[in-house]
Amino acid sequence: MKTGLTVVALTIPMVFVLVFGVAASPPPDGTIRAAAVLPAALATTADGEATKYAYVGSSKCKMCHIKQHKSWKKTKMGLAFDTLKPGAVADVKKAHGLDPNKDYTTDETCLKCHTTGLGHEGGYFIPDASDKKAVRKAKKLQGVGCESCHGPGSEYVKLHTELLKTKRKYKIEEMYAAGMVKVDASTCVTCHNEQSPTIAKGDAFDYEAKKNEGTHERIPLKQRE
Ligand code: HEC
Ligand code: HEC
Ligand code: HEC
Ligand code: HEC
Repeated sequence: MKTGLTVVALTIPMVFVLVFGVAASPPPDGTIRAAAVLPAALATTADGEATKYAYVGSSKCKMCHIKQHKSWKKTKMGLAFDTLKPGAVADVKKAHGLDPNKDYTTDETCLKCHTTGLGHEGGYFIPDASDKKAVRKAKKLQGVGCESCHGPGSEYVKLHTELLKTKRKYKIEEMYAAGMVKVDASTCVTCHNEQSPTIAKGDAFDYEAKKNEGTHERIPLKQRE
């Protein structure tokens, strides 16, 4: 990885390269390819409100927000899907009455909080194991992804792409109008609540303490007014 602005030839990847002082190549896994067509369902924000926006997966954000992505993918939320695999964190499962040898990766009651946008347009779905394309698509939505907190990205990614090109100033209201969700304590408690088998009744979620640990590295914004 190089630092400093890198200018490359005018190719498709170009738009993804001039990023906050860090150059990134588009992922080799073909992220630019058109998203698979999924069964239509109304997308919702983290708090369950219906929206007209679709989920696109965290890898779409990586090319521009490389530092946030890099730190996020190592967090517990980035790895939340792996927790559902048999044998993973066996002690914690036992302590909470879960079966440490059971495969919970196809259990929808768990997936709704351990994946991104379960059941919504563009969101996580349980893939047919023989359908390689579906398996790849679903993999990008495993864990608590960027859009679990920031909202489904189908429309605001277009706005961000334009902001990257023009470098103009913007107001936060533009982001919300394009489907971004204001992140606050209410975003977190859609999952950090007593429906989780590991959270005891009455356990309060301390937003101020948790928001800077366990989400991702913070990089000051430059274009926001
Ligand atoms: C879509 C559901 C979901 C949302 C929304 C969500 N989380 Fe989480 N969070 C999880 C899950 C699931 C885990 C546990 C992952 C694991 O260990 O497998 C977790 C773990 C964490 C952890 C590490 C464990 C702990 O409790 O210390 C922190 C910190 C955390 N989340 C903070 C936040 C904050 C702050 C927000 C809101 C800005 C938030 N989360 C929003 C599902 C969510
Ligand atoms: C309502 C949302 C929600 C549901 C449903 C949910 N989880 Fe979680 N899970 C969380 C959150 C949030 C955390 C992190 C906070 C904590 O454990 O204190 C978590 C943490 C965990 C952990 C602990 C991980 C660690 O590293 O310590 C395990 C294990 C786990 N979940 C398994 C499951 C399984 C298995 C299911 C389905 C039977 C499930 N969860 C359903 C939200 C949920
Ligand atoms: C668990 C919730 C959560 C997840 C998951 C999450 N973020 Fe964030 N993000 C936040 C919070 C909280 C802030 C700070 C918002 C504030 O203070 O107004 C933030 C801020 C940001 C910012 C503003 C600049 C900065 O660094 O502070 C960017 C850009 C961003 N996130 C991108 C991403 C990307 C890309 C991903 C996925 C790789 C991601 N986020 C995943 C919660 C999350
Ligand atoms: C083509 C590049 C590009 C892509 C792709 C992209 N963004 Fe952005 N994003 C930007 C730029 C540029 C800004 C404005 C940065 C600034 O003000 O310094 C921004 C701003 C943000 C902010 C801060 C909003 C605010 O004002 O508080 C968040 C959060 C964010 N992006 C999340 C995401 C997420 C999540 C994805 C993927 C679904 C994504 N972005 C995809 C370029 C991109």
